[in-house]
Amino acid sequence: MDPVAWESARKLVHRSRLSHTLDRLVERIQHSPLPGMLREGLVAGLGTNSASASRIDPARLKELTGLPPTKAIRSLCVYFALVREEAPPSCEPDPHDVEAFVQQNPSPYDFLLQVEEPSLLDLGAGDLSFEEELLDHYFPALKQNGKALTLHAVDRLQPGSQLGGAYHASPERLRRFTCDAPDTLHFRFWGGVDMTDLSSRPHLLAHYTMVTCHAPATPTFAYEPTRLSPATIHSHLTKTKGESRTVRIRGEEALEVMHRGRRLTFPAWKFVVQGPLALLNLAARRGALCVFAAVDDEVFWEILAQLVEDPGMRPPDVVFTPDVLPEIFGQVHQDLSSLKVGERCHLSDVTPLRQNLPASTTLRERNPGTCRFRYVEIRRGAVFPGMPAGSTARQFRHMSEEVPPWHLVLVPERVPGV
Ligand SMILES: C[S@@+](CC[C@H](N)C(=O)[O-])C[C@H]1O[C@@H](n2cnc3c(N)ncnc32)[C@H](O)[C@@H]1O
Repeated sequence: MDPVAWESARKLVHRSRLSHTLDRLVERIQHSPLPGMLREGLVAGLGTNSASASRIDPARLKELTGLPPTKAIRSLCVYFALVREEAPPSCEPDPHDVEAFVQQNPSPYDFLLQVEEPSLLDLGAGDLSFEEELLDHYFPALKQNGKALTLHAVDRLQPGSQLGGAYHASPERLRRFTCDAPDTLHFRFWGGVDMTDLSSRPHLLAHYTMVTCHAPATPTFAYEPTRLSPATIHSHLTKTKGESRTVRIRGEEALEVMHRGRRLTFPAWKFVVQGPLALLNLAARRGALCVFAAVDDEVFWEILAQLVEDPGMRPPDVVFTPDVLPEIFGQVHQDLSSLKVGERCHLSDVTPLRQNLPASTTLRERNPGTCRFRYVEIRRGAVFPGMPAGSTARQFRHMSEEVPPWHLVLVPERVPGV
């Protein structure tokens, strides 16, 4: 037997990949020219309907190959050329490994401890309180393992602007993470940067271990422009938020909104709608593992509609108001709405995941390429034990009028051959 192939097959039988390897072997054997009895025996020996190692029938495999189970599977991997099809070595984590990890671990952030060069990009970072919690939680362990952390954050708020209030990056945190930071923390914050236009930022990494977005902005990501017309979005915003106009406040352009008799001012871009496809494509292209936390109800259903295969859940020009959600999302709405705070589920157990994520019309990223999410986990709640959170998530418990927010853990992968 080819000793290099035999050695390479070792990683295919690792706990985190085993179930995927068995699925691939079964498929290969079923389509092979082996005699029928042998084919059926091997398929039965490898098992078909469970993600766990207990699906294997060691006695059957031994009978057919003369080898103990792990060696038998490694031999089959070599025989059926699974090894040769492995992607060339890369420092990017394999999506199968990422999925296996997040399925087995309550905190997706623990994945940072698994990789050699951990990195995280936080989109719409606000006051940087998530960064602070992340560092408090993970930095000591990373340091102890001799690993440096690259932590990058962007926010569209222009530093020094009088608009945006508490979402401005905290100067105290900025100082602590940069000037006073140890050598093993590579932190950078870009203010005044639109996350949908990162191509011109040469110091960002092309790929991060994790991409996060805590409390994705609304209405920015609450309406998908490929589904809703500008007129529909505009009329819905006027109805729910109020009439708006552009004004100048002490020389700075701003958006003034008349909301329930009050005159509110926001950054000028506040009502520029970019839609969830922009956020999803950006996260999928830049991250091996993505987390969207403290997602409000409106943004959540619009994101969800883009993650599922069923086009009926993306009706053209229908705004997802609470009264239409049960009819549009049917059983999916029922199953997800019944999740209690703290509970989680796999979206693929509820409805098939979308096989190709379409491009966004608002995202300006180089290096297009089709991707999809191979794993989507949905949790209910703002904060979770042992997991760092942003300041908006921490405020949810004080917001009696808000329904509990949503939390998504997503593992992207490239769609081959597209
Ligand atoms: C609801 S706040 C959440 C802030 C913080 N992540 C948290 O969890 O508290 C949304 C943030 O996204 C930022 N933002 C909105 N649109 C953005 C865009 N296109 N690019 C980058 N940041 C954006 C806002 O300035 C704001 O700080």
